[in-house]
Parts: sequence; structure tokens; C-alpha cells
Amino acid sequence: MKNKFYITTPIYYTNAKPHIGHAYTTVAADILARWNKSQGKDVFFLMGTDEHGAKIQKKADELGKSPKEFVDEISGEFKSLWNDLKISYDNFIRTTDEKHIVAVSKMLQSIYDAGAIKKGEYEGLYCVGCEQFLNESDLVDGKCPDHNTVPEKMKEESYLLDMRSKQDELIGKIESDEFEISPERYKKEVLAFLKNNELKDLSISRKNVQWGIPLPFDKEYTTYVWVDAFINYLTGIGWDGNIENIPEKWPADVQLIGKDILRVHATIWPIVLMYLGFPLPKRLFVHGHILSGGKKMSKTLGNVIGIDEMLEKFGVDGTRYLLMGAGTFGEDVDVTMERMIEKYNSDLANGLGNLVSRVIKLREGDDEIKKEIKPVADMSSYFSNMELGHGLEFIWNMISEDNKFIEENKPWELKKTDQEKFRSVMEKLITDLHSISELLIPFMPETSEKIKRALEEGKTEILFQRIK
Ligand code: MSP
Repeated sequence: MKNKFYITTPIYYTNAKPHIGHAYTTVAADILARWNKSQGKDVFFLMGTDEHGAKIQKKADELGKSPKEFVDEISGEFKSLWNDLKISYDNFIRTTDEKHIVAVSKMLQSIYDAGAIKKGEYEGLYCVGCEQFLNESDLVDGKCPDHNTVPEKMKEESYLLDMRSKQDELIGKIESDEFEISPERYKKEVLAFLKNNELKDLSISRKNVQWGIPLPFDKEYTTYVWVDAFINYLTGIGWDGNIENIPEKWPADVQLIGKDILRVHATIWPIVLMYLGFPLPKRLFVHGHILSGGKKMSKTLGNVIGIDEMLEKFGVDGTRYLLMGAGTFGEDVDVTMERMIEKYNSDLANGLGNLVSRVIKLREGDDEIKKEIKPVADMSSYFSNMELGHGLEFIWNMISEDNKFIEENKPWELKKTDQEKFRSVMEKLITDLHSISELLIPFMPETSEKIKRALEEGKTEILFQRIK
């Protein structure tokens, strides 16, 4: 399929409500989807929820709810948050969708028939928070560093997927960028891991977890949740589980993930695809985490910033701006509520808001000033390099320069003293405002619309109310 752009986010676990970390990945994906759409690409943007597994089963039990009732509730919360944040997704996949379940089952049967899955015994340290077996070397003081919990010792009969046989081929595909992992340091990290460790067989079955997809070749077991989850990237674009039917939109052009789930996305996922005979995703882009006051957000530390709280304070576009403007996309970024309020006031209320209201007011009653649109600055390199934060900085430089230009030229005086100069000053400002409204489309779609309307109608409302 020519000219397509297929982008995915991770599917989020439905064991708890969405938080700003989830919103961060999702807003970034939305910006990329909207940008590519504006470039005439045939965009498909997939997201969804990961609803099976021990973690969810356990949480539902604790709450005295059936797993299905529980995941319906939480999945609904994710969906409604994405609607609030104006996320332009094309499909929202749930791993409890019947079609997904059927496809996963067929897929497993094919790999089993091909001889890559064998029964054996598996022993390891399982972290329910990660839904992964950890190596001794991953632990810090005997605990999982991400969840700060002691993993459970597990030993059970299990179905094992041969990972080793595909290891060298995988290394080759990563080295040649057929399967591009970026930023570069993550590619290096994955290659170092793959070159220094022989991949162990992967246990793809669970005996004690009922909340999952039964293995088609042994109904005593359910499917390991990660194997189930990865397939969403295919079923979300209509795959029926038949290896003959590679979906038209496959491979993904970009798969966005946080650094916490890099290892699985760079090993299990491509190896499953290789067994299916499917091409690998073109690009896996790994971003860092949002920290709050330099630390991982946690209830115990009391530094959790709620996404609802952000939406209430900053509105939709304010929230999108503050998330993406928090720092370099790809690296860890640190936020605090105080700093976000400051940034909101300086960049949005004062910076952009002021520019729009000044320009529109100055133009009042003077419709002769041309509404000419200069070709907008080229931002494509920011998007192809995933420099979303820098893209915003570029736009904000333009905004501050224009605000400075107004102060230097004092058009309100020129209006009385020098009509010709006034016109030329206003023409530049109006042209720039048109450009700014264009450049803002992927980042802040509603604000972009409002600016366009203001330019059209010659009047404006306050775009961003100052926060005291
Ligand atoms: N269900 C799995 C993914 C399966 S994909 C086939 C999962 N879910 S999750 O709910 O834990 O979400 C993880 C993702 O949420 C991260 O990879 C990242 O994209 C995002 N984030 C979660 N916390 C985050 C931050 N604090 N900061 C930025 N993003 C983070 O893992």
C-alpha cells in the first residue's frame, strides 16, 4: 500500500486508571498521526487496551469484581480520556474482543504446527507488575527495580517458544535497520543485550492464570499475556489470524513505546513475526519517562500529577502543549505542577494568547490588510527525527519574535502616524499568525482552529486564561 502511515501506541493495561505517562505516549502518537495526515498520507492510528493476565485478574479479585466487568470499566475510562484529549485514533482494540481472541488462537496453532513450540518445564522469577520473568541480574536488592517488589519464584510445566533459532537473524535485521530501533542508544542497548546473551526459550503459557486466551492445543493453559498483547498490532488492522493474510497496512511505520517495554518489543515481538513470516515493523521509537520532581510518580511519594487535574487546569490543548513541551522526546523529562503553571502562563497566556489578541485587535476595522498566506516553514525534519519538543520550540521562537516585533514597532502608534508602515507591520504579523495556526495543527488542533477563525472573523476570545 503506497503512501500509508501506520502508527501504534502500546496497549495499556486495564489494572488501573490512565495516568499522565499513558497520555504522554498517546499525545505524541496523535501529533505524529495528525502531521502525517496533513502531509497527505493515508494514516491509520491504532491504540487500545491490554486486558488479560495475572495482574488484572488479581486486581479484579481484590475489588470483588469479575475480570470482564472490571476491564470494561477501565477500558471505558481510557477511551473517554482519549476522546477528551482529542486523540484522532482510527481504531481502539481490546484484547478481549472476540475477533482478537480467535486470531491469537489461530496464530498460536500455526507456530505450534511449525514445531517452534514445545512442552517443557519452566522455572524463573516472575514479576506480576511487569508480567515478565526477570533475570537475577535485573534485580536490585532482590527486587524488581520498576515495581519495587520481590518477584515470585515460579516453576511449572509450560509451553516454550524457541527464541534462540531466530536470534542471529534478528540481530541482522536490527543492525541493518530493516527493523530500526531509535534513538540510536536504544538500538545499541538491544544489540549489546542480544550479542551478550543467548536467548532462552520463552514460556508462552500459564497454568494458574484463568483470565487469558486458552492455548488451542492444550486448553489447560492460557496464553502468556505479552504474546496475546503483541498480536493487537495486527488484529487492530483487521488480521484474522491466518498467516496467508498479511494485512495491507502491515508493517507498522512507527511503533511508539516507553523505555520500560523495549526489551520485549525488541525480542519477543519481532521473533513472533519472524515465525509468522511477516515483515518486521519499520521503526520502533523509544521514549523516556515523565518524572515528577525528578522521581518516578508514586502514591507513596505523593508526587502523582493527575491527568484529570491537568485537563481541568490547562484545558485540552494546554495539556497537550505541556506534555510535549516538557523536554526532548526520547529522553526522560521532568515536570512539576509549579513549573507547568509557569510555562502555561508564560508560553500560552502571555506568549501565544497575547500575540493573537494583539494582532486581531490591531487589525480591527481594517479589512484591507491582505490575509495572504506565505508558505509555512518546513517542519518535516522535526517529525521525521521525532523531535516533537523541538518542533514546539521552533513555533514558540516565532511567537516570541513576533511579540518582540510588536513592541519594537508599536503598531498602535503607527496606525495614527504612518499608515504605510502600519500596513507592512500588520501584514507580516498576520502572515506569521497564519503560519503559526498551520504549524500548530498537529500539536494543538483546537487552538489552531480558533486562530484561523479569529483571522477570518476579525475578532477573538481569550485563548488561554492566566492561572493565578
Ligand atoms: N500492556 C503493556 C504494553 C503492551 S503493548 C503490546 C504495558 N502497559 S502499561 O499500561 O504499563 O503502559 C506502558 C506504557 O505507558 C509505556 O511503555 C509508556 O509508553 C507509557 N508510560 C507509562 N508510564 C510512563 C511514564 N511515567 N512516562 C511516560 N510514559 C510512560 O506495558
